[in-house]
Amino acid sequence: MNYETILVAHRGPTALVTLNRQDKLNAMSMILKEELIRVLRELDADTNTRTIVITGAGQKAFTAGADIQEFQGRTAIEQWRMYERMTLYDTVDRIAKPILAMINGYCFGGGLELAMACDIRIAAAEATLGQTEINIGIIPGGGGSQRLARLVGLGNALKLTLAGDRVDASEALRIGLVDEVVPQARLEQRTFELAAKIASKSALAVRLAKAAVRASARLPLDQGLRYEQSLFSLAMASEDKEEGVRAFLEKRDASWKDR
Ligand code: COA
Repeated sequence: MNYETILVAHRGPTALVTLNRQDKLNAMSMILKEELIRVLRELDADTNTRTIVITGAGQKAFTAGADIQEFQGRTAIEQWRMYERMTLYDTVDRIAKPILAMINGYCFGGGLELAMACDIRIAAAEATLGQTEINIGIIPGGGGSQRLARLVGLGNALKLTLAGDRVDASEALRIGLVDEVVPQARLEQRTFELAAKIASKSALAVRLAKAAVRASARLPLDQGLRYEQSLFSLAMASEDKEEGVRAFLEKRDASWKDR
């Protein structure tokens, strides 16, 4: 499949998706968002892909956010029509396989919303992040007002969203906006190491675990606990549970069937 604004590469079980508009700091145009939605759905259905990494082309930017150029002249009705279809952020949220955001530079506005919709965020020490929409007179529209508060707490979310400040990677790590920070030179190695480790587990168990943990962000505790019990019961019915338990007792590595 050919894409205009995205590159896709496969490294063993991990697919690398690169936002590729380097001259615009990988700003997310409508075409880029549509292509990203398409590629993520394809990778989710591809049996050879177990984990997905999203990054930006070049050394400077993950993505500088939505393409601001395209905001000019957009009407409220046009914006609403876009929300009637499933957005990029909804799509990322619903992909069953783990998605890692490899944040290699600027990560602003819609770019931060994309990273926050992913499962794990690993940033280069040189990266800067911000929920910066307020600086151009708008507010987050890709889930930022909800996901940011869940990640960093209400006070930090309000501070970032209202002041529109950029924070460096170490501050992002401190407040829980990213999960790990490594020097730029080690970013790819560390991200792929983690992606490969996840890919080495039972793909079925990984999908169930992801669904259970992510539910904690949207369900009240009693419903979340019930949901976990349902998925745990499902895991009990899998061939991989039989294999995993037997392998442990026989002191050998498990050979996963992913069913
Ligand atoms: N949308 C569209 N184009 C963007 C963009 C965006 N979000 N961010 C950067 N670009 C473009 C610039 O217009 C410029 O294009 P040009 O060379 O045709 O003029 C190119 O990318 C390089 O950006 P530039 O501003 O020259 O780079 P810089 O290193 O001086 O500054 C930023 C980098 C990220 C600080 C600055 O570009 C910026 O503030 N961008 C907007 C970030 C933002 O608020 N995003 C949220 C949008 S809701």
